[in-house]
Amino acid sequence: MTVFVASLFLPYTVNFDGPPAWNGSAPESLTMKRDEQVIPAAANSPAVVSKLPLVDGPSSVSLFTPNPNTAALSATLTQTPDVIIQTPGATTDHEKIFRPHVQRPMALSLPSHIKEKKEQSEKDTEQQPQEQAVRPVQLKDLRGVSRHDLHSPGWGKSFVWNQPPSRAKSPPPSSILKHAAAEAKEKALAMVQTAQRKAARAGHRRSRTVSHDRRFSEYNYSVEKAVIGNGGLFNAIDAATDAGQLDEKLWVGTLGCPIDVLEDHMKENIAEKLENDYDSLAVYVSDSDLNGHYEHYCKTILWPVFHYQIPDHPKSKAYEDHSWIFYVKVNEAFADRIAKNYKKGDIIWIHDYHLLLVPGLLRQKLPEAEIGFFLHTAFPSSEIFRCLAVRSELLEGILGANMIGFQNDEYGHHFLQTCSRLLNVEATKHGVILESGRFVHVNTCPIGIDPKVVDQQRGSPEVLDWVKTITEKYRGKRIIVGRDKLDNIRGVRQKILSYELFLNKYPEYKDQVVLIQIATSSTEDPELSATVADIVTRVNSTHSTLAHQPLVFLKQDIDFGQYLALLTVAECLMITSLREGMNLTSHEFVMCQDGKFANPKHGPLVLSEFTGSATVFGHNAILVNPWHYTQCADAIKQALEMPSEERERRWKGMYDIVVNQNATAWYHQYTEALHHAWKEHSVREATSVPRLSVSSVKSKYQKASKRLIILDYEGTLASWGSPTDIILTTPKRSIDVLNDLIEDERNIVYVMSSRMPEELERLFSPVSNLGMIAENGAYLKAPDTDEWEELANSEAAKVWKQGVRSILQYYVERIEGSRIEERHSSVVFDYAEAEDMAGAFKQAGECANHINDACQGQNVCAVPIEDGLYISEVGINKGLAAQMISDTLEKLSRSRGEPMPDFLMVVGDSREDEYVFNWAHKLEKAGIIKNVVTVTVGARNTEASATLTQGVTGVLSILEKLVRISQG
Ligand SMILES: *[C@@H]1O[C@H](CO)[C@@H](O)[C@H](O)[C@H]1NC(C)=O
Ligand SMILES: *[C@@H]1O[C@H](CO)[C@@H](O)[C@H](O)[C@H]1NC(C)=O
Ligand SMILES: *[C@@H]1O[C@H](CO)[C@@H](O)[C@H](O)[C@H]1NC(C)=O
Ligand SMILES: *[C@@H]1O[C@H](CO)[C@@H](O)[C@H](O)[C@H]1NC(C)=O
Repeated sequence: MTVFVASLFLPYTVNFDGPPAWNGSAPESLTMKRDEQVIPAAANSPAVVSKLPLVDGPSSVSLFTPNPNTAALSATLTQTPDVIIQTPGATTDHEKIFRPHVQRPMALSLPSHIKEKKEQSEKDTEQQPQEQAVRPVQLKDLRGVSRHDLHSPGWGKSFVWNQPPSRAKSPPPSSILKHAAAEAKEKALAMVQTAQRKAARAGHRRSRTVSHDRRFSEYNYSVEKAVIGNGGLFNAIDAATDAGQLDEKLWVGTLGCPIDVLEDHMKENIAEKLENDYDSLAVYVSDSDLNGHYEHYCKTILWPVFHYQIPDHPKSKAYEDHSWIFYVKVNEAFADRIAKNYKKGDIIWIHDYHLLLVPGLLRQKLPEAEIGFFLHTAFPSSEIFRCLAVRSELLEGILGANMIGFQNDEYGHHFLQTCSRLLNVEATKHGVILESGRFVHVNTCPIGIDPKVVDQQRGSPEVLDWVKTITEKYRGKRIIVGRDKLDNIRGVRQKILSYELFLNKYPEYKDQVVLIQIATSSTEDPELSATVADIVTRVNSTHSTLAHQPLVFLKQDIDFGQYLALLTVAECLMITSLREGMNLTSHEFVMCQDGKFANPKHGPLVLSEFTGSATVFGHNAILVNPWHYTQCADAIKQALEMPSEERERRWKGMYDIVVNQNATAWYHQYTEALHHAWKEHSVREATSVPRLSVSSVKSKYQKASKRLIILDYEGTLASWGSPTDIILTTPKRSIDVLNDLIEDERNIVYVMSSRMPEELERLFSPVSNLGMIAENGAYLKAPDTDEWEELANSEAAKVWKQGVRSILQYYVERIEGSRIEERHSSVVFDYAEAEDMAGAFKQAGECANHINDACQGQNVCAVPIEDGLYISEVGINKGLAAQMISDTLEKLSRSRGEPMPDFLMVVGDSREDEYVFNWAHKLEKAGIIKNVVTVTVGARNTEASATLTQGVTGVLSILEKLVRISQG
């Protein structure tokens, strides 16, 4: 059994020997004048497109080269690493201490299981020629952990490895106004290419430019640990492998570098090597496809939308779907690659928003497969998501999975709501019921770090060196750290404004504190940069003295060692993201704050409440609203003034979470839940209870002269809902159906529920002459009266409820988020909202035992229900109430000669309804009622004779069909 772990980029990439494609000076194609019109040499020659005039601004340049400024910058850095970039508001002196993070070739250590395997395979097998050229290892950086936050330094811009240049076509223009121009350019290009091809065929082939890049196919290469991709995922899977939870896996992903210039033999060679030695399946897509997919569709449309940046300004590209086709193509390539390698019994796990369509594509190819999907980023509310042009396609793609995992409940909730709104399918608390009847589970499973490896990392000599240096530099100061990408989502502007407010409001701290804000320099927003620069300069000019500068703003990245060192010496970490999936930076901060290597310890975490981490750490962190500057400023003060006991208590709370909700736990939880979901799905498919045959019900209904219909309420006539749940099906439709049914005089209709009589009366006030069974059979009301009959002993209940209440109180205090709901003759203990579900589940079991022991004499028992306990008198159930109904009818038939019903239909969905199914079947067996139809919604082990898999919608549509028969 193999687990396929698919994410856009593999955790490995290749590094070529030979003269670098990118050696510090701009490649030929770039140094040309922008407006130079070069007739491309040959149709498939590498630099063809880039030599056409580069029309519009940064976005069209972005792939061939990093944005010219950064390119120049990085080029300088590569040659002279000591050159410091001037950033506003920071003195050169401060910047010097953080040696610029220069992405130079460095050895990244491979995970241990791979290393062994590699060594062994090197010993065992003949070496391939390529392998002899393993680069001299520079033991500079022992990065056992992947950085999880090198989120998108841009594909094809690696300065770390020697990799081929991209041949992607010019990306789509940034503005719709230029769209026409771009199309014209495409056309011109196509014409030129055709001309070239003709010329080439005619023997005038000029292959000047081909030779340079083609050489890559002759070079030796080595496999290296990738620096782009989802580091959090890579670390988690490695941790699970090391922990022995994962025997056989295959990474699936792209190489993370352009591949168009590589010849087929080279691509095959690389793919084979990755598959044999690195558990990796390489997915090859053309440079243009990946560029359109990643740089455009993912970065400019999906990512902003998923983070609540509504694409509503004229420069936005979200309304254009030209890059959508690339998104589709790349997703298809993944699905094809996986399907070709899939064997029965394998598990497929797709990751993140780059591959939203893959589960659906795979489901078409492999209807039986166990497919999981996990979204690492946030999922927006349906209001935002519906702005996407291809919203339904995306949702349907995701719904191909058996289980969909989210970082927190909120995102899962948003997803369910979005599905029910946009696809018109039914969403329940735990998933989505598709039209086909397939149930897709949705679950929450926050990712974590591997504490063991981070611990090793932070204790490395390099990090400790940095700890020393930084401590010395800022001796006597209290350090607040922030490190963010400078974009609109991370809230850097908000953070600095809050800090400014803090300095103004509490000037006594001016000489004590320093905020070291690192702004990493990937794709920039010039407007934002300028605004931030202004603020920084203002803060500096107002608050700096010759001796002390309270704000150090560095527009550069720092290397991993420095980063861990900063987290170690900091007194507080401040994260003010405006929206964020799960950010592991705070986990690492908590790990580093145990006081082992630096003096201030147990530093408080100031955390935006809009991050996934906020739901993990809860009030152990100081939660802030990043738009509320005063609150943030006060949070800084609170952090600085926090007494050490409180610091320790909060830190301990977070530390326990970091250590226990770790990477292996995440893997384990997710895969268990996936397997469970898949098995349930297979069972549903193979269930022995047949689907309800609509035509047979219709004909029985039609023939009947008197009918008794008993319908469950929660989960059958309306989506199951406590007040906090999403109630999806409009009750209006249910009300209409009930009224229509009752209109036919041959029908007697009952609704049964666990709710109290008065609640039912309110819910069904628009329906007259409806029979009701309340509190799971404790109360009964016949259709033609307003009188409730009491089947349970409510006087006795007053007494036993007191005892039960005091027991429950004990558990409510211990299970955060749980509550007691009291009814007339029953008590419900509800922990659906509990923070720690697993713990609550365990405690609820204890609680049930406790009550059953204590209340045995009172004839009371506690029965587990979904996310809760139902405590009531033994023997009171819906079946008892149903029995009363049939007894009354039989009495009437004997005394007044009224005919007994010859048709009985019961529809329900839960354990409680089984009593009624059972009663119905007895009547049928005894020949009291001729035609009995029992239906359960969803597939469980059931006594019902048929199932309906389309949920509430399915029930209502059947009832509507019956109504039509009544109405002729
Ligand atoms: C970089 O490459 C260019 C063109 O391939 C070459 O002219 C130049 O000499 C190289 N520079 C270095 C420092 O290797
Ligand atoms: C920041 O303030 C200090 C002290 O006033 C000053 O020396 C320094 O030049 C300022 N930096 C900038 C970039 O304005
Ligand atoms: C996590 O947050 C830090 C600091 O805000 C940021 O630099 C980093 O890019 C974030 N990581 C991810 C994966 O979003
Ligand atoms: C990860 O968490 C689990 C429990 O959630 C724990 O048993 C295990 O020891 C943790 N692993 C590490 C490396 O801390």
